[in-house]
Amino acid sequence: MRTIRITGTGSALPGRIVTNKELEQMVETSDEWIRERTGIAERHVSVGETVVTLASEAAHKALEQAGKRAEEIDLILVATCSPEQYLPCCACQVQAAVGAVNALAFDVNAACSGFLFALNTADAYLRTGLAKNALIIGSEVLSKLVDWTDRSSCILFGDGAGAVVVERCEASPGILGRALHSDGTGGGVLQCGARELTTPYARTSAAKTDQKQQTDDREHYIQMDGQEVYRFATRRVPQCIEEALADAGLAVPDIDLFVLHQANARIIDAVAKRLHADREKFPTNLERVGNLSSASIPVLLDELHRQGKLHRGDRIVLAGFGAGLTIGACVMTW
Ligand code: UT7
Repeated sequence: MRTIRITGTGSALPGRIVTNKELEQMVETSDEWIRERTGIAERHVSVGETVVTLASEAAHKALEQAGKRAEEIDLILVATCSPEQYLPCCACQVQAAVGAVNALAFDVNAACSGFLFALNTADAYLRTGLAKNALIIGSEVLSKLVDWTDRSSCILFGDGAGAVVVERCEASPGILGRALHSDGTGGGVLQCGARELTTPYARTSAAKTDQKQQTDDREHYIQMDGQEVYRFATRRVPQCIEEALADAGLAVPDIDLFVLHQANARIIDAVAKRLHADREKFPTNLERVGNLSSASIPVLLDELHRQGKLHRGDRIVLAGFGAGLTIGACVMTW
């Protein structure tokens, strides 16, 4: 049975760190409120780094660790919801930057679940023999989509990228079970409009008929009903993990580590509680990096890997949720 194995990880964060104290100067908030309600103390923010430069740096590190040359890579998937350009896609730009001349490259946008959706797409390519290996990257520069005057959302997000190299492997158990879902009917609770909301044609005809379209500037920034997203996550993430565990024929005590999307420490506490799982098995890095959307899981994976906290044979659960709405969990053997 063909399956996949992660053979290298890498990550990249912008050099500029913004602390909660600094945010106190920008909006009416406090370090204490942010730490208590979210667990976040600081985040890295781009001062010029882009989705592509961060992704390429993370990719280089993952390739180096996997001992793979860029030309050997068959598939590049970049999960992102904050690209700088519509065209070309980030994956093609990363392909050019790292020199992976033989790869097929495209982007995946499933917001904070993006990395998990991309991992499962790569798994499908590798299992069916369409590719032997893949470079999967989650990369975000959310700071350009954040309304820095909105205290309910600007305190949450950060910028960064994480990458993994996966290879087809006949012997490793790889991905054991999964559950991935999308619910477009819930999309209104977390959204961000494109900069250009009307086509030049529509603008011209609107001008002709004197029906100027008014657009609200806030539509270009992340708008979120935080409480609804919180409720969605605490209810659906545990269900989704249980579903993926059932698919794998495993139960909560069989799992060594739960690598969750890093949105809010209270969400992680609630998920652990609902699963009756040991909270110690839920590592976090959100206190240092905030919510990195699709980069959240691969950045944490890379940190754990480089700290020697992941061992071959460990059973781990990856789980994420986000705009769409999207949600996913995946059980795998490291
Ligand atoms: O990747 C997925 C992305 N999104 C998420 O994961 C978001 C999930 N939701 C959350 O993490 C939480 O809902 C938040 C952290 C966004 C908010 O925490 P909360 O405990 O749900 O607070 P709340 O919205 O119920 O607000 C409580 C109070 C309100 O004041 P009043 O109405 O009680 O007087 C807010 O206006 O806290 C106020 N508030 C703040 N106060 C200080 C909201 N934001 C802030 C702030 N500083 N930054």
